[in-house]
Amino acid sequence: MIFSAPAQPLRQAAEAKGKLIGAAIAAGNLADPMYQQVAGTEFNYLTPENDTKWENTEPGPGRFTFANGDKVVAFAKDHGMKVRGHTLLWHLALPGWVKELDDVELKAAMLRHITGVMEHYKGQMYAWDVLNEAIADGGIGEHRTGSPFYDKLGIEYVALAFRAAHEIDPSAKLFYNDYGAEISGWPKTEAVYRLVKSLVDQGVPISGVGLQMHVSPRQLPPIKLIRDTMQRYADLDLLVNISEMDLPVGPIRGTLDEKLEQQAKAYQDIVSVCVTMTACDAVSFWGFTDKYTWLNLPQYAKIHGRGPHLPLLYTDTFVPKPARQAVLNAFVAP
Ligand code: G3I
Repeated sequence: MIFSAPAQPLRQAAEAKGKLIGAAIAAGNLADPMYQQVAGTEFNYLTPENDTKWENTEPGPGRFTFANGDKVVAFAKDHGMKVRGHTLLWHLALPGWVKELDDVELKAAMLRHITGVMEHYKGQMYAWDVLNEAIADGGIGEHRTGSPFYDKLGIEYVALAFRAAHEIDPSAKLFYNDYGAEISGWPKTEAVYRLVKSLVDQGVPISGVGLQMHVSPRQLPPIKLIRDTMQRYADLDLLVNISEMDLPVGPIRGTLDEKLEQQAKAYQDIVSVCVTMTACDAVSFWGFTDKYTWLNLPQYAKIHGRGPHLPLLYTDTFVPKPARQAVLNAFVAP
């Protein structure tokens, strides 16, 4: 099967607006020729979906493995794309041995991990997610417990991690990345804002915030409140971006065509917020084809109830969906 390239690739429209447009990519999927062709045509920014997470880059203490991350970086280089490393610290995708360490050992392991990974990719990453999803769910507006970093090192680990990352690769933009923090006024949004503002106030080298934008099909987010959230980070002189957008359609009412039209409209409305804001450097999707989405994994599909979820811009046979046109429209709008 040959991919018939669209008249106007998304990246061309994004570049005309000075923006990055990205997708999460799995090194393992690059063996699929259609996957390669669409990724190489449409995007100018890639995030390794899983290949640069701790469990994959340092599965044993001090034993670093970069083969799959390197494949994503090489693909990006071949196609003139930037890369966002994902993610130095996260309470998930963390090897079991890290959880067994005491506080002194954990602090040393954290710094060794940041150093080992950032040294390897020095100068090759436009950005790094230094810290992922550190704020608790459930509207309690507090730091997440159950993360060994917070539980054993206290809040100081956050500044320490950003400072260590900056020291190793001062050219990389350093981000805090989270979900459910898009809508101004929500407790989690406010808790993320407080954390980020406290880092700015301490002079910690943080470049910006990634709002993941895993949109709930049961409740499409109010656009004005997303804009407000982004503007508040812009007012702190930070970058802010859409870092992992997808929009499952399962529980949306109507025929499949109606679901896909609603999906497209939401994509356009949300992406437009970034396009019209100078501080928003990038829009990234969490994949691009419904063939390979984390929502096809049964353990994650249930988050959004009944499927099929079909959350991305291309079908599972690499045909562009209405959502793909809608994203293009958001970028070409005057
Ligand atoms: O590779 C194995 C495969 O061999 C095995 O047959 C299969 C059985 O389930 O599992 C495969 O590994 C899975 C891996 O994704 C690759 O598909 C893991 O079980 C699964 O836990 C892992 O999930 C990833 C998840 O993060 C946890 O790391 C998802 O792909 C990835 O999309 C998701 O991404 C996160 C972001 O990093 C942070 N924000 C939320 C986002 C969605 O959860």
